[in-house]
Amino acid sequence: MCGIVGYMGPKDPKDVIIHGLETLEYRGYDSAGISVLNQGKYERIRAQGKLVNLKEKLEGKSFPGGVGIGHTRWATHGAPVEKNAHPHKVYQVNIVHNGIIENNEELRVELKKQGSVFESDTDSELVAHLVHYANDGANNLYEAVIKIISKLEGAYSILVVSEEYPDQIVAFKNGPPLVIGVCDDAREVVIASDIQAIMPYTKDVVYLEDNEVAFLTGESVSYFDIEGKSLDKKVTTIKWDAEQAEKQGYEHFMLKEIYEQPRAVSAAIEPHVDALKNTVSLKNVGFGLDYDKLIEGDLTADEVAADIKSTLDTFKNLERVFIVGCGTSFYAGMVGEYYIENLAKVPVEIELASEFRYRNPIIPKDSLVIFITQSGETADTLAALRQVKSEGVKTLSICNVRRSSIDRESDGHLYMNAGVEVGVASTKAFVTSLAVLNLISISIAKAKGEISEEKESRLLMGLLEAPKHMDSVLAYSHFFSYAADTLKKFKGFLYMGRGVNYPIALEGALKMKELAYKHAEGYAAGEMKHGPLALIDEKMAIVMVAPKDALYDKTLSNLEESKARGGAIISIGTGEDEQLKKLSEHYLSLPEAHWTVNPLIEVIPLQLLSYYVADSLGNDVDRPRNLAKSVTVE
Ligand code: M6R
Repeated sequence: MCGIVGYMGPKDPKDVIIHGLETLEYRGYDSAGISVLNQGKYERIRAQGKLVNLKEKLEGKSFPGGVGIGHTRWATHGAPVEKNAHPHKVYQVNIVHNGIIENNEELRVELKKQGSVFESDTDSELVAHLVHYANDGANNLYEAVIKIISKLEGAYSILVVSEEYPDQIVAFKNGPPLVIGVCDDAREVVIASDIQAIMPYTKDVVYLEDNEVAFLTGESVSYFDIEGKSLDKKVTTIKWDAEQAEKQGYEHFMLKEIYEQPRAVSAAIEPHVDALKNTVSLKNVGFGLDYDKLIEGDLTADEVAADIKSTLDTFKNLERVFIVGCGTSFYAGMVGEYYIENLAKVPVEIELASEFRYRNPIIPKDSLVIFITQSGETADTLAALRQVKSEGVKTLSICNVRRSSIDRESDGHLYMNAGVEVGVASTKAFVTSLAVLNLISISIAKAKGEISEEKESRLLMGLLEAPKHMDSVLAYSHFFSYAADTLKKFKGFLYMGRGVNYPIALEGALKMKELAYKHAEGYAAGEMKHGPLALIDEKMAIVMVAPKDALYDKTLSNLEESKARGGAIISIGTGEDEQLKKLSEHYLSLPEAHWTVNPLIEVIPLQLLSYYVADSLGNDVDRPRNLAKSVTVE
């Protein structure tokens, strides 16, 4: 994780870097720091905790030197204290680092033998020591950095500055993302982990690929591979603007993002709907197509038609689907399992990326492996993708961040189109993944001849109504805040659901854990009497997801069993459900929808309950403790 920013240009680097770090704080917020050129020397200022602490330390200071680097940290090696904050400084050299140096121990021992004294417990500091030694005999900073790369193992990205070459910055990527915004003929350059930090200055960016180096001199930016071969990098113009990432009057990004969900779902569905025929055709998936051409939208009409056919052929021939993800993306995948197995009658295995990659899974060649990830950078999901690709099995990603590693490396590409999601707790990404999984299941079912045209159109019409239903739930958000007031006094939570509602219970529990720091478990309601029922007493709150679907009666019996043991019940059901009302302290009513659409609607009350409980407890809703948005370490 961690966010890094570098700046070279006419502005005060402190201002650009701090603004950049604000947009990157979602990547970690254990500490922050900057090193900025000041009269030929790099002045380093660091602070433990959130960026606001660093900003306090910087108040009233200005730096006319025009060069600097900065960092916001999510601790991996070493406690979240100031001595471990970046930048790390060894004599003239200052570095910021995102990722992990896996041979840290070995290199430290070697460096200590050479006389290095370490001031931090991080793996990052050794990079500064290595560059310090490598400066000897180098003609510029690029030569020094390139000498040390072969010594480092792991997935990491770094920015390096040195007082010996005060007007140079070197950036190297091997894993975590690095984007370079070049303005004013390279006289002004911003480098960052995410384009959001660059957007206020330019929309023209260059994406560094793994094992590529960028060398900034104030007059030019040159790109090289690790062999030193000069690279001609393509400039990409970003199409969205930074305003999309502002709070727009909401108290928190998470709340804004919850409210954006209906529009996000429409944006996820619309590109793949043939409105005249009322059919689904997945467009620009790109199996076997050139990625750059695809993402730039440079396909001819013939190529678009061929692509639609190629996706249908892929779906027609597959015998098994695997869905891989982490956290909320994994739960979205679980819902996808119900969709695909029910509609397309293809067996699905849903896998946690962190487990999948280490259990030597058997993946038949005629499988399709779907990877779900908001960030497109989750380390375990990326490693699992690479493993599957190395076995020659076809992959399809559902990403939110375009051009992210997982998006670029997968064979086929579908997008959540959720817009920027800043809150660490995933909301828009979840519902848009469900929308895309809905479309995938309809397409596979169609390709395999499992559904009639009439059923396809019915399913699609149901899905197209999802945003309207979601809006109607959001209109009652004051009610969720009221229910949250009852819930906040409970210490433990059991979320339950059956069938497709079970993953929604898991997702609801995850939201309560990560936002309110309350112990919450998600359970398949039918499992209660096999153990968890013993947990229930008057201190336990039970959140039951019980829409009127095929399993409704069974769910109701499970609820009765819990009620008899004394737990406080919050239930979520369809319309005016008198039975649920009678059993519950709070009953949250949802509009009637098709079972495939229910999950997109049901999750909203669960998100809002957690949001309001967390907020009323004074927790930082957008940046829950110990977490980060983009988990680029194992
Ligand atoms: O970017 P990804 O979708 O791959 O992230 C996966 C998880 O880290 C993420 O969903 C996490 O569980 C969220 N914080 C949950 O709200």
